[in-house]
Amino acid sequence: MGFRQYKFGAAGVGLMLGFSMCITLFGPSNDFRSGVSTWVGLDKQLSLGRVIGFSYEDPTVSGDGKPVTVILDKDPKTGEAIDPPQRFYVYKAGTKFSPGVNHPELLGPGVEDLSLSIGKIKAADVSSGAVFTVSKGEFNGEEIDYIENVTATRGWSPEETLRAAGDENSRYVGKGKTIYISEGCWWCHTLLPEQTQDWQVFGAPPFLGDFNGEMPTAFGSDRKAPDLLHVAARNSSREWMEMHFFNPRLVQPNSIMPRFDYLWGKTDADGNTIDYAKWRAEYMAYLNGESIYPPEVPKPAPDSEVRALIDWILTSLK
Ligand code: HEC
Repeated sequence: MGFRQYKFGAAGVGLMLGFSMCITLFGPSNDFRSGVSTWVGLDKQLSLGRVIGFSYEDPTVSGDGKPVTVILDKDPKTGEAIDPPQRFYVYKAGTKFSPGVNHPELLGPGVEDLSLSIGKIKAADVSSGAVFTVSKGEFNGEEIDYIENVTATRGWSPEETLRAAGDENSRYVGKGKTIYISEGCWWCHTLLPEQTQDWQVFGAPPFLGDFNGEMPTAFGSDRKAPDLLHVAARNSSREWMEMHFFNPRLVQPNSIMPRFDYLWGKTDADGNTIDYAKWRAEYMAYLNGESIYPPEVPKPAPDSEVRALIDWILTSLK
């Protein structure tokens, strides 16, 4: 009897597993396309590029092959003023486009239509590169944001756009977020204020449409440190960020955050070799009360990893 019951049980379990498998395979799935991309979602995917994190395209997760976000206050072709200054996303020849450009159905109804019709995103070509921006248009009587391929609509080339921006108006946002992933910042930090009292401390929770085409979202799970989704809204000082990353104890005496001084690389902004051993010796002397001030943090080189990381924080996490 027991044996029969056992056999029946096994069949029952098999049926239930089969049934749940059918739900998984054939049932309605959570379809991200039902979320209409917000400005945040479009800005994010255009500044991050095709894929972030672990992939065959960037196996060492170093942030190579990412677009550059530039902030322009005048048209590089006509010289006409752009007021307020606007973000443009420069994809040099060969840089892979973001998911929404390749698969416009990801953008959601309306955003997809305008991006294809007036935005001309299908005219963009990876082999020659393109410049994109987020523009405002009207769809069914509502104002929405859509992706504009500025190379097709205004004739801007990636090179002249980068030249017009110069280093001071360029932000290495895509590379910066990749470094957030490869350094494991998400081990302690989250990018998802929860719908609780969190709001009052860390700001508003995100919308579904903020994530169309983003991978990975890096929400984080087990929070050991402040949520960073809106960190630049409460702290926008580049100098503070530089001190805090070089050694968090410079600004938060009991911080458990590791130092990320190695993200500076070998040389500083002036091309001088960074002498880490000397810096630490001077820092120890300061801790021991032998000097009044800690040593100064080196200025990051324009192509350093920390520059990109801070660019991403101050540009995207507002
Ligand atoms: C071991 C856990 C840990 C890791 C890993 C870590 N942090 Fe932190 N972080 C903290 C803690 C704790 C604080 C709050 C105290 C402080 O400011 O140091 C903090 C503070 C911050 C702040 C300021 C937050 C605010 O509210 O003003 C920023 C920005 C930040 N971390 C970014 C990063 C980035 C980027 C990385 C990866 C390169 C990283 N952290 C890795 C623990 C961590």
